[in-house]
Amino acid sequence: MGDSQVAGVGIPAGSPVPLLLGSASRDARYVENPDHFDMDRRQRGSIPFGHGIHFCLGAALARAEARIALAELLPHVRAMRVTQKPTWNLSLTVRGPVTCKMEFEPASPRPGSGCCWARAHRSHTAAGVA
Ligand code: HEM
Repeated sequence: MGDSQVAGVGIPAGSPVPLLLGSASRDARYVENPDHFDMDRRQRGSIPFGHGIHFCLGAALARAEARIALAELLPHVRAMRVTQKPTWNLSLTVRGPVTCKMEFEPASPRPGSGCCWARAHRSHTAAGVA
């Protein structure tokens, strides 16, 4: 490949070019309101798990884990908020918080549902989850 230009930046032939996959979905020109966590977001394509022959082998597992974790957690909370600025890892490929302190506001028990925050909290505490 010869000399190229991307977004007005000249790239001489033979230059190493690291791809910052972790920032791809955070480009406000491409994704509306990228810092907002929106589970109903309609996306035009997804790059966080890579692309092509090196597409993440664990993508289906990671998506299933997230789906299960949210489905278990959300019925028990009315609100959650980040209470301290997160610290971020320094990876070029998979970007994510190293620490993200959060506060959870419990949902009210649903009468007759057999499901309440206090019970979930007790069982999580017994399992060693803070
Ligand atoms: C949210 C969680 C995850 C994210 C965001 C993620 C992201 C990525 C990305 C961006 C790549 C491509 C790297 C590249 O192109 O060089 C990748 C590759 C890979 N991921 Fe994941 N990953 C996640 C979870 C997992 C899990 C749970 C597993 C295994 C159980 C896994 C196994 C792999 C493997 C083996 C590759 C290499 C594939 C190859 O080079 O052919 N990942 N992942």
